[in-house]
Amino acid sequence: MITNIIVRIVILLRKKYIKLMDKIFQIHCCHSLKSCGNNFYISYDSTVMGLNHIMIGDNFNAHARLKLRAFDSYEGQEYSPSVKIGNNFYAGTDCHIGTIGCITIGNNVTLASKVCIIDHSHGIGDYSDINIPVLKRRLGKKGSISIEDNVWICEGAIILSGVKIGQNSIIGANAVVTHNIPANSIAAGIPAKVIKKL
Ligand SMILES: CC(C)(COP(=O)(O)OP(=O)(O)OC[C@H]1O[C@@H](n2cnc3c(N)ncnc32)[C@H](O)[C@@H]1OP(=O)(O)O)[C@@H](O)C(=O)NCCC(=O)NCCS
Repeated sequence: MITNIIVRIVILLRKKYIKLMDKIFQIHCCHSLKSCGNNFYISYDSTVMGLNHIMIGDNFNAHARLKLRAFDSYEGQEYSPSVKIGNNFYAGTDCHIGTIGCITIGNNVTLASKVCIIDHSHGIGDYSDINIPVLKRRLGKKGSISIEDNVWICEGAIILSGVKIGQNSIIGANAVVTHNIPANSIAAGIPAKVIKKL
């Protein structure tokens, strides 16, 4: 009986603590972002970097452990990153958006959990820096990433550098998207290929 009451109190206090932490973190993010719309929610356990390069529209809703990072410098190199996210964005848990260049996400885009949108790699792909420790290599990218309106990216999918995903398209679970996906398509697999037209 008494243990039940203690457990309930602990659960209640934990909920209140998380709510307060969320609120404080949201206020910090909103003030640090380049621009932030109405109705902004980000979980307090998220990792954010370079918020002054990130613009976010209305109704942003990102669940636990989002990594949202715009690198303007890394290992002595300078970059000019920019992230623009439209209205009505949803991200499930453990998503990762990272850039040294440009990532544009349109309106009404939904990411399931464990989705990665990353435009850079450690090294530039010709392996001239193979003798340099991985994390010390100069970051390289192929191009910008653009995700148009109304796209749904399913659980575990990865969107790589230089890719454009056309409006209304769906990217299947665990896909690795290395090339453009046209509008109104379902794409799946590794590398992702169109499996259906909508
Ligand atoms: C992409 C998806 C939506 C497509 O669903 P669908 O239109 O019903 O597709 P189908 O099941 O008819 O599959 C069509 C073909 O593509 C293949 N396929 C479907 N999804 C695939 C995937 N993620 N990876 C590889 N192949 C896939 C199927 O095996 C099938 O191939 P076949 O014709 O040789 O048998 C669905 O498969 C998917 O990945 N859902 C993820 C759900 C999710 O992440 N939910 C999180 C909630 S936010």
